[in-house]
Amino acid sequence: MIIDTDPGHDDAIALLLALASPSELEVRAITTVAGNVPLSKTTYNALRVRELAGAPHIPVYRGCGRPLVNELVTAEYVHGESGIDGPELPEPSRGAEQIHAVDYLIETLRTTPEPITLCILGPMTNIAAALTQAPEISAGIGEAVMMSGSFHAGGNVTPAAEFNVFVDPHATDVVLSSGVPLVMMPLDVTHQAQATRPRVEAIHAIDTPVGRATTEMLRFVERYYVGRGGFEGFPLHDPTVIAYLIDPSLFDVRPGRFSVDLAAGETHGSTGAEWHLDDANGRAALGIDVDAYFELIAERLAAL
Ligand code: RIB
Ligand code: CA
Repeated sequence: MIIDTDPGHDDAIALLLALASPSELEVRAITTVAGNVPLSKTTYNALRVRELAGAPHIPVYRGCGRPLVNELVTAEYVHGESGIDGPELPEPSRGAEQIHAVDYLIETLRTTPEPITLCILGPMTNIAAALTQAPEISAGIGEAVMMSGSFHAGGNVTPAAEFNVFVDPHATDVVLSSGVPLVMMPLDVTHQAQATRPRVEAIHAIDTPVGRATTEMLRFVERYYVGRGGFEGFPLHDPTVIAYLIDPSLFDVRPGRFSVDLAAGETHGSTGAEWHLDDANGRAALGIDVDAYFELIAERLAAL
């Protein structure tokens, strides 16, 4: 798999979960994109999380620094200036690769002997740029699993739109129209997966650098969520993508026809779904076994 990401606290936990699961997942590379914070910081954060996971051998490729069309919108108000405020993270022992993430994606997906899974944890700018430049790479994508969109759960950056789609709705439109097999993890399912106090304490019981850093990440973002909108903890958005690939039975996934609103105005960047048509362009998770999800995260991070 290739993980495309904008770390971001939940991206960081998703990366740790993936790197802690070598029996099920082979992480070939990490590609970074501007989103939660600008590209220089998401890339630095990916390198630091890679170091924390003890996986400096996994290449990190720097991607697009702004969306395809819209101006970049970031989320320091959630994640802090660094993008992962809270924990002390190790300095990278080596840097990002020289070639651009889009060039890496095109070269790899064009030549791979077997289809590769894409895990998309941020705005889909890199994937959309690669598909636009070289549409034939869709044959090299086995499945794209993405934290993306919202159908019945409202928005988290405007009342209508989920952040990853809102930042780059045009990229989302390219991916949804590409014919690539896709599974969406929308706010409908990630808002069910809140890191409540008992779940944070289960992570806090992991007496390792990974356990301590993850606890600090959860406690930092909790301050933004708890006390507003009825949240009892940080909804762990991005790790749902990794958990799905480890154990799809944790999720209730439905086929549907999904679209994104590109019109200017209040609903810009919102996503829609028609669940009954036969011409589905993907599947979306609407349910999750939340206790099993957090048990999986705690179990895997304890072993990292
Ligand atoms: O809407 C939540 C998504 O936006 C998550 O991927 C989070 O990391 C931010 O990128
Ligand atoms: Ca993210």
